[in-house]
Amino acid sequence: MDGPGLVRRVVGGVLAVAVCGALSGFSGGAERVASARDRPAVPEAPAVVRRVSAPAGGTVSWGRRVLAGVGAPGVVGPAGMGHPVRETVIKKKDPCARAKCVALTFDDGPMGSTGRLLGILAGRRVRATFFLVGQNVVKDPETVRRESAAGHEIANHSYTHADLGRLPEGKAVEEVTRTQDAIRLASGVTPVLLRPPYGSTDKRLASIARRMGLAQILWTVDPLDWSDRDTDAVERRVMKSVRPGSVVLMHDIHATTVAAVPRIIDRLAARGYTFVTVTELFGGDLEPGGKYVRREP
Ligand code: NI
Repeated sequence: MDGPGLVRRVVGGVLAVAVCGALSGFSGGAERVASARDRPAVPEAPAVVRRVSAPAGGTVSWGRRVLAGVGAPGVVGPAGMGHPVRETVIKKKDPCARAKCVALTFDDGPMGSTGRLLGILAGRRVRATFFLVGQNVVKDPETVRRESAAGHEIANHSYTHADLGRLPEGKAVEEVTRTQDAIRLASGVTPVLLRPPYGSTDKRLASIARRMGLAQILWTVDPLDWSDRDTDAVERRVMKSVRPGSVVLMHDIHATTVAAVPRIIDRLAARGYTFVTVTELFGGDLEPGGKYVRREP
């Protein structure tokens, strides 16, 4: 653990980059050591960390893992060693390694205004993520099927919009399980994402989510669309706060929010954003039980 730090202190920057480059294949280890231990003592350490994290448009770092050499020509090993295959797979899964991405997410549906939103998204060829309430899914399975068929990601938002972090464990499991079943029955899809209502989660819910194969998705941008139901305010708040890698929280159950969506999409598209599902935003690197609020740059 002390090896790279010691070398860096004695020999300085250039050799240290080479050492860290050699170590970058070890999941998060090299980066963690460099940032946690060496930054206070060695001023140039942050530059080294950046080189470790992103050489030549290659390595990407987010979530728990550091993927070394992704997509960087010249770091791929010879055929037969498995590297080209790994590179191809990750490239396909991770459009946001280079593009400026945002994930629009819509909670609490389906409801009457969801159909209109689906038309807006289809007209602009934008895909989004819907966090569905199970008891609404069973009332309108056809809309859920349409969401999925249109390429949107559909995900779990509990059965009764319950505060999962405060429920007894058995009840929380039931809320999540019934919603998984309802969505599967409506669409054939088994969700891999859970958004706890109110963002209410704890270690116990993380453990439940892990056992059920669900990553917990919170959000980066919250325009509080439910509070004043003001279309202009929703648009303004989203545009003010959104950044590359953001997860934007909205509610398709409010017509005032749905009315803001075309404006938001058109303005974000003009700024060069690509619209992706939550799973795409994180390059497929979401761990069950993990909690995510944005993709780190
Ligand atoms: Ni909700």
